[in-house]
Amino acid sequence: MIPETRLEKRVVQTAQGDFFVTLVCGDYTHLYPGMERYGVRVSDALGHPVTQFFTNTYEYTPAMGLDAKSAAIKQADEWVEEFADHPIDMVEYFRRLHPRCLPAAEAVDVVIIQGSPRPDGNSGQVARWAASEVVRLGGTVQVIYPDDMNIHPCIGCYQCYNTGFCTFSDDMDEVFALVQRCGVLVVCAPVYSCSVPGALKVLIDRFQAYHAHRNLMGEDDTKSQAGLFFGVCGREGDANFRPLRDIATAFFATAGIPLTGSVWADGMDTKRDIRRVPGFAAEVRDCVRQALQKTEYNGED
Ligand SMILES: Cc1cc2nc3c(=O)[nH]c(=O)nc-3n(C[C@H](O)[C@H](O)[C@H](O)COP(=O)(O)O)c2cc1C
Repeated sequence: MIPETRLEKRVVQTAQGDFFVTLVCGDYTHLYPGMERYGVRVSDALGHPVTQFFTNTYEYTPAMGLDAKSAAIKQADEWVEEFADHPIDMVEYFRRLHPRCLPAAEAVDVVIIQGSPRPDGNSGQVARWAASEVVRLGGTVQVIYPDDMNIHPCIGCYQCYNTGFCTFSDDMDEVFALVQRCGVLVVCAPVYSCSVPGALKVLIDRFQAYHAHRNLMGEDDTKSQAGLFFGVCGREGDANFRPLRDIATAFFATAGIPLTGSVWADGMDTKRDIRRVPGFAAEVRDCVRQALQKTEYNGED
């Protein structure tokens, strides 16, 4: 948990006992330069939490004319008034709100994100080699197809750094739940316009909320994970993969998973079929095997 400084504590005296409205600030500079999270925490006379509100400096664009600290003070002012006037209603209202959490997902050893919209294309074939190697070794695997999923693009609201959750609740919840518990995360992707295909890019951007979740909720330091990236492209030459290498580095850093291996196949416009690229399948399988060895997977479950 990121430490907080208490800026102010107000006492609201009511017939139902005292309530405390506390204004806090956390320094998030280690996540983003100058990022601060302001919060308002309400607790009852026994110190039990009743509700809380958070807002951070990155939520506010220069044109907005509002800032995080003022917004938090405004929320504190409102709650002081509302708890003074209707303490029972307020407690009852917040008691009925359910906190957000990630869905329960069965843990799998390997999660593969197949980023090409073509299920039977070259990336699809690479994903099948990777998956079959996991099964051969006695592991469990789940393949994710971003193109078939309901994933809203990131809107850059930065509200995930308030709560640890994205403002959108869609298929990414399940992706996060799976990634959180897997040993190896694999991404298979073609180069599209010097980047990755759109649906995969949307999924990658949404990992910002996973970064927020890990940092706000506390990381599981005992878990060892490994990341792999397998890329294909149409043109000849390794230079065509430069953008994908950068994307892979940024993505796995955001996910908090070390990128431990990658395999690349260029020139697919002329070679056409990845199955005819000598040694590629073996390289993919080796990579998967080595990555599994780096995690806690021992092949006995
Ligand atoms: C919209 C689009 C954009 C592409 N852009 C590039 C590119 O910038 N550089 C490149 O080398 N290949 C590019 N390609 C070629 C693909 O990377 C290549 O066909 C790849 O093998 C497709 O992978 P898949 O079979 O997994 O779908 C592009 C293909 C498409 C459809």
